Amino acid sequence: MRVLVTGSAGFIGSHVVEALEEAGHEVRSFDLRGGQDVRDAAALGRALPGMEAVVHQAAKVGLGVDVADLPEYTSVNAHGTAVLLAAMAGHGVGRLVLASSMVVYGEGAYECPAHGRVRPGPRAAADLSRGLFEPRCPACGSPVASAAIAEDAPADPRNAYATTKLAQEHLSANWARETGGTAVALRYHNVYGPRMPRDTPYSGVAAIFRSALAAGRAPKVFEDGGQRRDFVHVRDVAWANAAALSGGAPGVLAAYNIASGEPRTVGEMAVALAAERGGPDPVVTGEYRLGDVRHIMAAPGRAAAELGFRASVGFAEGMKEFAGAPLA
Ligand code: UD1
Repeated sequence: MRVLVTGSAGFIGSHVVEALEEAGHEVRSFDLRGGQDVRDAAALGRALPGMEAVVHQAAKVGLGVDVADLPEYTSVNAHGTAVLLAAMAGHGVGRLVLASSMVVYGEGAYECPAHGRVRPGPRAAADLSRGLFEPRCPACGSPVASAAIAEDAPADPRNAYATTKLAQEHLSANWARETGGTAVALRYHNVYGPRMPRDTPYSGVAAIFRSALAAGRAPKVFEDGGQRRDFVHVRDVAWANAAALSGGAPGVLAAYNIASGEPRTVGEMAVALAAERGGPDPVVTGEYRLGDVRHIMAAPGRAAAELGFRASVGFAEGMKEFAGAPLA
């Protein structure tokens, strides 16, 4: 297939280009680093002719530092995707693979012994400052057990990045419905691996720990280190994008968790990376960030059943490689 990859020079995008080429696709790159902005209809007008699909990775990523970031997230992620979709419609490109995120869910899924499946709201600062990190049942206040989240869980975006990722999904669904196009949204869990951007205020935790260790500093583990995530290797994420090119159905958006299926705690991740690099050992600080969710673990079944995607890089193997891999 002839495929335009936006964000092709980025961390995930560069791996996507490699995976698509390996799968035999003909890739055209489109990236801000080459002066190509997805908000620029003229640039898209030059890039889209002849393309059969777009794999849209270009985005402003990370959590957002404060409300001053809102306009830029909305402009790049929401407006940029709208311009792209309009251009695709104009050039008859009928297939989209969208880089979405598990952040559209907000807090993960939980089971209350009395109320079954529940979705707790944001944790109170008063609880966090007392070291009460686990969410409680919104109905009865009982302790709850974390559970894997599936794609049909209601969205609960809690920051600018999450809100604009969800907006991208909704805009893509509009485009699919109106044009008969096929849209697949891949909800990446915590992606890590070679060429991950080093420590910035917008970086994910794996890059922050890896950068600290490279500088001889101990990784600072927030809360009590027991928060669970699904760390998925970037080569698996790239492969999922290749698999998604033959997935989906005309006229609708299909969303998939892209995850390893092997959840780990942030504390375990810090220990694994520190051990591979020979220290220093992680420090559990008890600090917290108000916007953070406690646990989010993916149900990987739908991507396996419908896209044939199963992660192939295990946690131990992936962290071993990441500990020594170059950052961007
Ligand atoms: C991250 C991304 C999010 C992305 C999602 C899926 C960021 C900032 N967040 O969300 O954009 O969509 O993965 O790929 O890029 N922590 C520490 N020490 C630190 C920093 C963080 O212990 O120095 C902890 C946090 O408190 C949190 C966990 O690590 O509990 C994960 O943090 P982080 O990677 O920033 O955000 P996610 O919510 O997982």
